[in-house]
Amino acid sequence: MSKTIIISNRLPLKIALEDDKLRVTPSVGGLATGLKSFHKDGDSIWIGWSGLTEEEIPDHLEEEVKEKAKAEDCIAVNLTEEEVDGFYYGFSNRTIWPLFHYFMEFTEAEHASWEIYKQVNIKYAKEVLKHYEAGDRVWVHDYQLLLVPKLIRDEEPEAIIGFFNHIPFPSYEVFRTLPWRESVLEGMLGADLIGFHTYDYERHFLSSVTRILRHKVDFNEVTLPERIVKVDSFPMGIDYKKFEDAALNHFRGTEDEQSELQRRLDLHLEATPDAKLILSIDRLDYTKGIANRIRAFEYFLDKYPEFIEKVRLVMLAVPSRSNVPQYQRLKREIDELVGRINGKFSTVSWTPIWYFYRSMPFDNLIDLYTSCDVALLTPIRDGMNLVAKEYIATRTDHTGVLILSEMAGAAHEMNEALIINPNNFEQIALTLKQAIEMPKEEQIERNKTLQKRLKRYNVEKWAKDFMQALKNTEDNRRSFESI
Ligand code: ADP
Ligand code: G6P
Repeated sequence: MSKTIIISNRLPLKIALEDDKLRVTPSVGGLATGLKSFHKDGDSIWIGWSGLTEEEIPDHLEEEVKEKAKAEDCIAVNLTEEEVDGFYYGFSNRTIWPLFHYFMEFTEAEHASWEIYKQVNIKYAKEVLKHYEAGDRVWVHDYQLLLVPKLIRDEEPEAIIGFFNHIPFPSYEVFRTLPWRESVLEGMLGADLIGFHTYDYERHFLSSVTRILRHKVDFNEVTLPERIVKVDSFPMGIDYKKFEDAALNHFRGTEDEQSELQRRLDLHLEATPDAKLILSIDRLDYTKGIANRIRAFEYFLDKYPEFIEKVRLVMLAVPSRSNVPQYQRLKREIDELVGRINGKFSTVSWTPIWYFYRSMPFDNLIDLYTSCDVALLTPIRDGMNLVAKEYIATRTDHTGVLILSEMAGAAHEMNEALIINPNNFEQIALTLKQAIEMPKEEQIERNKTLQKRLKRYNVEKWAKDFMQALKNTEDNRRSFESI
């Protein structure tokens, strides 16, 4: 029976070594959380990095790493330390990630890391080929594996290959600055179907294909000498039911069982029942606009001092890519900003910002989503932003206000949210005031519309649409061959 082979840099599970024991945690990030739901229901295997380097895994635990992955129908690829440095921290996260998010000043163009990126893409493609059988569909994910579609195509010309890019694709003027732009485009065009979250990213990609490779592009089809490649947008949804059910069945527990977070949230509600909680959740990443958000919050408190002791910003930043210098600098900047602003505004009974720099279990995420009156998500650039969708899905009484950056892919589908420009502090401050003062009836009306849409375009529908479009490319291929 044919299967789907999912391949992404990271597996949905992250394996770490603690006191000579393996510890498995779920991976953070939109790709892993979104795709996990498709994988668990389907007939698929998932190939990706375990999170450990080859050097880190003691001989006696090698088999166990494989078994832990296998228990979730995953195949763990182990990368060497040198590969993790050059491929993951290097080319993926110091070249492609900043470039595709328009952070050109952070973009490095090092030949050595490009070479490792190529090698590691070959390593992943080989792993796919080991498990590939005629009739299987291969679904390659994200910016770490841009060369994999072509590498598989070169060995298996008949394979049905889909590629999905989970981050923005930048405009031609930005993309053209990449020294290896031709190879990257050719790598992606090894697929039969290329998917993006939004129509804009799709358009930017097609424009680069036309102008750099000079291929003929008709509407959303690229004509290669031997094949046609279809390009389309598929906005990724969430596992709506999972978040809705988690919120509905949310058990706040007895005092003994409560987490520190729950206790603090409850104390806050008891002490200041009228005060509003403003939530922000992201990986600690410069694309997420966390520093801007804190500055905008300071501007808000300066401009509207009547909200002192009446609001609190609850900020969860999940550690991410901490070997990359920009992430280290951002961490220091945020620590400093939070300290300064808490010092500036705190009173005996109130601190304006609660800052958590850690990963939290799913239940705590639900605690946060369900307890906060406003979600303030201000990315400078974001391929999609699933947190915005998850917040709305957990608002089962339909209250709550989402403030969302227009630079997030999710903003295209969430017009009923309050949409802001993340660089405009004046607008953010005014919008925060509007959100805090929004009448319940208006919140309910906006959220009901959003919820209906998110429920319908959930992650299952996203995967199904992509898979159907991939299947359609098979038929197109047949008719192309018969011309
Ligand atoms: P990105 O993919 O850039 O990290 P998204 O907002 O699209 O941004 O996705 C983040 C995902 O990570 C969400 O699905 C969210 O639920 C999940 N997540 C965020 N924080 C945590 C956490 N502390 N523990 C587990 N999952 C988390
Ligand atoms: C984004 C990317 C994913 C990545 C995730 C977490 O969602 O699109 O490919 O897995 O961030 O980042 P990390 O570097 O920890 O895998």
